[in-house]
Amino acid sequence: MDESKPDFEDIYIKLRSAEGRVYSDSEVKPLPDISPNHKHYKEWQVRKKSSEMLVDYIRQKENHKSILDLGSGNGWLTHKLGEINQFEVIGMDVNITELEQAARVFNDKPNLAFVCGDIFKLELKFDYIILASVIAYFNDLKKLISALLNNLNSGGEIHIIDSPFYNDTAKAKRNSEIYYNQIGFPEMAKHYNHHSLDALKEFNYSILYNPNSALNKFKRFFKPSLLPFYWVRVEGF
Ligand SMILES: C[S@@+](CC[C@H](N)C(=O)[O-])C[C@H]1O[C@@H](n2cnc3c(N)ncnc32)[C@H](O)[C@@H]1O
Repeated sequence: MDESKPDFEDIYIKLRSAEGRVYSDSEVKPLPDISPNHKHYKEWQVRKKSSEMLVDYIRQKENHKSILDLGSGNGWLTHKLGEINQFEVIGMDVNITELEQAARVFNDKPNLAFVCGDIFKLELKFDYIILASVIAYFNDLKKLISALLNNLNSGGEIHIIDSPFYNDTAKAKRNSEIYYNQIGFPEMAKHYNHHSLDALKEFNYSILYNPNSALNKFKRFFKPSLLPFYWVRVEGF
């Protein structure tokens, strides 16, 4: 499938580079493990925790085995998911630069495939679809989830991790605009969207981890590395 989005990709990769989020092949391979000296070490500690929670969850469901990792980026999570009983995992993205890196770094893993494509045209079905740190790049979350439900096998599940949900999306949008202006990529604001849990209300969803529960807020006060993001499961038909 050839659905690269060159205008998005160009600005996205430049932004990620400015943020220090473009990694060398040797850094990608062991992710989420990274040197404690790396500027995003703390962020990767959070990602390590959330990916381990997800992997443990999926590992327990032995009758499920195919996974789509949508917006797979450099493929680190696709790789981690593929370690579960050698499940077949497809990493799909629109960003050729990181797809090529993923295919290069994890080329010794025959159960992984990395494809460029338009999710709204994908006709394959999966047991799990993972949206890790990716919903912000879709402007209509309801439309995305509705489409993805058609890509699920019976009893399949969509998991959203490592993504914020906002109570005040207008304020969050303004904050993003300020951030992208400051970092020198104002045009990125049009690619970055802000969703509230309200967008999921017509779906059969459950919150598997709520960072804003009183207990988790309390715990995070003492241990800031605890997950700041929701973990949401949307069940298929
Ligand atoms: C912040 S990165 C997350 C990468 C990876 N999932 C992770 O957890 O590290 C967001 C990714 O979503 C991809 N993306 C943006 N729009 C997309 C689309 N329409 N279809 C597929 N991927 C998309 C970007 O190219 C990027 O690789």
